[in-house]
Order: sequence, then C-alpha cells, then structure tokens
Amino acid sequence: MKFSYVNPTQIQFGQGQIASLSKLISNKQKVLVVYGGGSIKSNGVYDQVVSALADHDWLEFSGVGANPTIEVLDKAVAIAKEQKVDFVLGVGGGSVIDGVKYIAAAAHYDGDGWDILTGKHRVTTALPLGAVLTLPATGSESNSGSVVSKAATREKLAFMAPAVQPKFAVMDPDVMKTLPQRQLVNGLVDAWVHTCEQYLTFPSGALVQDGYAEALLKALKSLGDNFTEQDDAWRANLMWAANQALNGLIGSGVPQDWATHMIGHELTALYGVDHARSLAIVQPSLLRNQLAAKKAKLEQMGKNVFGLAFSEDLAERTIDAIEDFYHSLDVATKLTEHKGDKAQAVDTVMAQLEAHGMTAIGEKQAITLACSREILEQAVA
Ligand code: NZQ
Ligand code: ZN
Repeated sequence: MKFSYVNPTQIQFGQGQIASLSKLISNKQKVLVVYGGGSIKSNGVYDQVVSALADHDWLEFSGVGANPTIEVLDKAVAIAKEQKVDFVLGVGGGSVIDGVKYIAAAAHYDGDGWDILTGKHRVTTALPLGAVLTLPATGSESNSGSVVSKAATREKLAFMAPAVQPKFAVMDPDVMKTLPQRQLVNGLVDAWVHTCEQYLTFPSGALVQDGYAEALLKALKSLGDNFTEQDDAWRANLMWAANQALNGLIGSGVPQDWATHMIGHELTALYGVDHARSLAIVQPSLLRNQLAAKKAKLEQMGKNVFGLAFSEDLAERTIDAIEDFYHSLDVATKLTEHKGDKAQAVDTVMAQLEAHGMTAIGEKQAITLACSREILEQAVA
C-alpha cells in the first residue's frame, strides 16, 4: 500500500449552509455563478445564492446541460476571460460542477479547450472554484475529475487535475427535495458503481478501504431498499455516501477498475443514456465477463454486503444480487436506447472505444477490445 492522499475541499454540510457562501468567497473576488437549465430558479436555491452573495460583485452563466458540452462551456470561458472573473461558483449537479472545472481550467489556457480533454494540454493552473451541490451522485463537488462532451463528434472524455479541486462544497440535503425520482435513483446507482470500481477488483489486504467501501455499499443498499421512505435522514445519508464514494479516500492504495465507466461514457455520448443508467447497463455483463479475475472480491461483497451464505457459485449470485438491486429501482441492465440494431450498435461503440484508446482497461488492463465486444454482446438488447 503506497499512496499520497489529500482532499483540501472544505465541506459545508447541512440545512441552511448555502448562506455560508458569503464567507467562503472573499468579496474582493469577482464571481461567475454557473448553473444548469433552471431547476435552481424554481426550488429557491438561486435565491439563497443571490442573498449570500449580496456583498459580492458577481455575474451569471446558465444553460449548462446534463453531460455538459464544450460548445456551451466555451461561451462561459469567453465571459470569464472578458470579465476578468476571479472565482467560479457552480450551482448544480455533477454536470454543472464538471463544467465549472473545465471553465476554470480553460480560462487559464489560450489554445483549443478540447486539448484539456485529449490530454494535449495538461492542466496545472485554473481559476479557483467552489460548488453548491444540488444532486448527490458524482462526488465531483470534492474531487479533481471532470467529464466533458463534444456534441459535434459525440465524444465524452474526462480530465483530472488538482488545480480544479473545488475550494469548498456546500451540501444542503434540503435541495434534494425537488429532485425527480429518476435523478435520485441515478445518484444512488452512480455512487454504488463508484464504490464498486474501487472495491470489486482483487484482494489487496486493505482492511480499512475494504471496510469503508462495504459500509458505503450497505448504506446505499439500505437507501435503495427504503427508497419510498425519504426523509431528512435519508437525504443526508445519500448526499454524504455519494460524496464519500468518490472523494479519493476508498481508492487510495488499492487497485481500481473504471472499465464500466469507460464503456458507459460511450453509451451516453452515442445514445444519450443517463450516466448512472449507462453503468447499470454495462456493469453486470462486465462482472460476468471478468468473473474469474474478480471472484474473490465478488465473494467478499456477497458475504459482507448482501449477507449471502457461501456456495461454489457465490460470485455469480453476487452479480445476480447487484442486478436485482438495479431492477428493484426500475433501472434497466440492457441497452435499448440504440433502437434495435444490435450488431450496428456493438460495432459503433467498439469503434469509439478503440478511437479513445480504451484497448486495455480494468484493474489489470485485462479488458481488451475482444472482452469489451463480449461485454457489449451481453449488454446490448
Ligand atoms: O439543469 P438543471 O435545471 O440543474 O437540472 C438538472 C439536470 O437536468 C437536474 N437537477 C439537478 N439538481 C436538481 C435538479 N432538478 C431538480 N432539483 C434539483 N435539486 O438533474 C438533471 C441531471 O443533472 P446532472 O448534473 O447532469 O446529473 P449528475 O449529477 O448525475 O451528473 C452527471 C454528469 O457527471 C459526470 C457524468 O459523466 C455526467 O456528465 N460524472 C462526473 C464525475 C466526476 N466529476 O467525478 C464522475 C462520474 O462518474 C461521472 O462521470
Ligand atoms: Zn459515475
């Protein structure tokens, strides 16, 4: 076990915390407030932000959609540069926060912003940024990752850089009250798969990381099983679990997979599948494909998370339990969004995986293009 770990994002958790923005951002800084399609206008979050920034010089940019596109974000980059903005504040879900990370990085870069996603430009400097989270799912509010799409080419790529780690994350579970049930399910499933990506690999003897990952999985399972009984505690637990699932801690010093995400991103880029739902489509087929390599951790998860008794086929039964969990939340585990031509869909996704260099993915780079094709044969209806 060897790692370097820091998470410098200040978390302001709990009801009423949006007011703390007034102190979290210096009023000497000119702030660009970035948000999405307008949910924050109808649920009172916008008004709380405006009142907290009463003594600040700020301007706003709206219209960052789900799976944010560089085409939209570059308009905000131009504003940030022209208006000499000092701080970028994202108010929204993972899409807005990822978008803000891109805006902050691109504001310090004069080349083509897509270079940040392809890796041609390595981000070492960015405007400071903060987040008011309105949808718990991605963990983006306190990590250094960002996923941006290019509508013109239907591509979706990620970048990571310490420079875009949010300075703070305001997490008031009350903002979740207006979330459509579909988005709450998405958040739960995304956090679940994030935990799996850092846990369902091979045993490495990391008792603390394994134990915490299992605590998160059990919490998420319980929230899913009690999905119809949402109260303040339910919302707070989901918000905190989703944050902890991808803030860097459980992944420190352990093998990580992320192949489900890499294949899932292609399904979103090509067919517009919600991020979390793309993961539920890929993961059961991927786990079955990688059963031998993941057998020991699947058995551990079956025993410690689902409480299953040992049997020769425990690993298979664990995958079935994961799939049943998704189905219990009405989440599909097969792709139907491609409208039926299976062979063509498999070929199209394969071509994109290859174009993006996803030729050897997973914790041991064992998921070759041939494996991805087998996985897609199972995952595409
Ligand atoms: O645009 P608005 O009006 O805000 O509506 C949003 C959007 O339509 C709505 N919403 C958010 N908060 C709401 C609300 N509606 C009512 N009440 C509220 N309180 O929900 C819709 C979806 O929002 P979005 O931000 O797209 O969802 P999510 O948080 O699931 O983010 C998904 C994006 O994050 C990326 C995904 O790939 C995807 O692009 N990810 C980012 C990661 C990271 N940075 O670490 C890791 C993840 O694996 C993921 O890849
Ligand atoms: Zn995810």
